Amino acid sequence: MQLKFDYNNIMQYAIGVQGVKDAEIAADMPLMQKAFDEVMSAGGNGWQEWMRLPDTSDAELTSILQDCESIRKKAESLVVLGIGGSALGPLSVLNALLHLRHNELPAKKRAAPKFYIEDNIDPERMRALFDVIDLNTAYFNVITKSGETSETLAQFLIIYDALKKALGKKEAKKRILVTTTIGKGTLYNIAQKEGFKIFGIGNGVGGRFSVFSAVGLVPFAILGVDIRALLAGARAMAAACKNPAPQKNPALITAYLQVKSMQKGRNISVMMPYSDALKYMADFYCQLWGESLGKAADKTGKQVFTGQTPTKAVGVTDQHSQIQLYTEGPFDKVVTFIGVDNFRNVQPIASDPDIDGCGFLKGQTLNDLLKFEKRATRFALQKALRANFTITLPEINAHTVGELLQYFMLQTAFAGALLNIDAYNQPGVEEGKIATFALLGRTGYEQKLEELQQNLKSADYLIEQ
Ligand code: PA5
Repeated sequence: MQLKFDYNNIMQYAIGVQGVKDAEIAADMPLMQKAFDEVMSAGGNGWQEWMRLPDTSDAELTSILQDCESIRKKAESLVVLGIGGSALGPLSVLNALLHLRHNELPAKKRAAPKFYIEDNIDPERMRALFDVIDLNTAYFNVITKSGETSETLAQFLIIYDALKKALGKKEAKKRILVTTTIGKGTLYNIAQKEGFKIFGIGNGVGGRFSVFSAVGLVPFAILGVDIRALLAGARAMAAACKNPAPQKNPALITAYLQVKSMQKGRNISVMMPYSDALKYMADFYCQLWGESLGKAADKTGKQVFTGQTPTKAVGVTDQHSQIQLYTEGPFDKVVTFIGVDNFRNVQPIASDPDIDGCGFLKGQTLNDLLKFEKRATRFALQKALRANFTITLPEINAHTVGELLQYFMLQTAFAGALLNIDAYNQPGVEEGKIATFALLGRTGYEQKLEELQQNLKSADYLIEQ
């Protein structure tokens, strides 16, 4: 494992009564042991099938790479249509591993197609997409685990129609790649009938745990990400987190410390990468942590209304918007910093002798400035007795990104086990999905429509002119 974890600033010795005591860790060892056993014994099975993904065989990876090779060569743009877990994995990895201005690079300097991750159905965004892509050279990867999500199906219908009008049906079919559950769902049926290329998602791989399945691997292969190195990173983290000793197992100890902090009133988890390349890792984490742990009932059916609200901040940008609150506001947050030891380039700060007042920046680099600012913010939070911990990547590459993603997923699995809740369902999301079907008049949802129509609404509380 190449990542480093520092949880000093969540401990009592560093932040006083706000922190977790060594004695609490010692007393809770059996709890951690139980959570560890639960996650490990179910590893690879049921909804924990995602734990097998890092071990995907080389033959399978070769086959994905071969399928994607010709598209990689022919496509000028790859557009992913998907939402939630079907979008955030691809977005976080591509943003981390491709050039930060990939799409704006001239074609000669860009060894891969442009990429667009369309995870919203804002009509203006759809129009804007059509304004920047050329249908003659664009490919579309429609990703939906259930094959039923209204947003993704709507996007698909718009795109397929536009492709057929522009290129004719025969060519349009070749431009659509479908990633979905094999043998199930509306999109699978359409794909079969139309003859689209289909990539499968395992039955027990849920959306937010699917980044190492075809959901991520297909766009990564098309965009030239080293998928073998990515999975090797995931395997390295998985191996580190097989250690039953919590203090040696980063996912287990940090899951415990987050849960313990939450039980002490730290209900907000701030994910704060000090790197633009890693900024969507915070979004990946937010979905995973929020959707997996925000649950009304535990596994025994007891009402618990549990969960820690995840939120994103980016260093240094949000030092100038959020840190005041984090340092002096309520003691309700745990901040996770993500730092990078060595960036992929060094940017010296020019020292012009004719310019006065900036001497302290002379001879420095943006790399050092960023590092100092992270360290200073960490210090300021600790001084104000605010819980925080730090994850450090030696550098950003496919291996370390694979480690980080696998860590997030394992940490979430352990936290779910510690809270004794089902981390793999999302009844709160499903309710909204079903209500949308009802409002769209889909057959079979008539009762839900009636329920919606009876929804309370009083004119006394409306402001309309
Ligand atoms: O994590 C999840 O299961 C969800 O966030 C889903 O990814 C999201 O709702 C999209 O679902 P689907 O992939 O079925 O279209």
